[in-house]
Amino acid sequence: MKSVILFSVALVFSALTNSALSAEKTGAEIAQSCTMCHGENGLSKMPGTPSLAGQSEIYLVNQLRHFRDGQRQHEQMSVIAKPLTNADIDKVSAWFAQFEVELKKR
Ligand code: HEC
Repeated sequence: MKSVILFSVALVFSALTNSALSAEKTGAEIAQSCTMCHGENGLSKMPGTPSLAGQSEIYLVNQLRHFRDGQRQHEQMSVIAKPLTNADIDKVSAWFAQFEVELKKR
């Protein structure tokens, strides 16, 4: 399991690194590399992985900058956030923040 996750992280990392070198990506395009863990549209079904859908944009921006710059550390997210530019972080955060989440009891 752990090696599968690390392999996934490596794939995402290389996808993000390549994307930084090629054309600019939209928030939706960047988000495609997040949803395998954070769930479709950022609604997580994976224990230990938080939902991003409907989070406030400023919160997401701050957390991603903290992962990238080392104030917040996590085995997977620190690697994933590394290649993101400020513009990437703004775009992907705005994309996940665009959703409104409705609550109901389980
Ligand atoms: C390999 C799985 C995986 C991928 C891919 C992934 N994440 Fe995460 N992410 C996690 C996990 C696990 C956490 C919880 C970290 C912790 O416990 O501190 C997390 C936490 C976060 C948080 C903090 C949320 C909070 O409520 O504190 C943000 C923001 C985030 N991820 C954004 C992203 C974005 C944007 C992408 C795509 C560029 C992405 N993640 C890709 C696994 C992943």
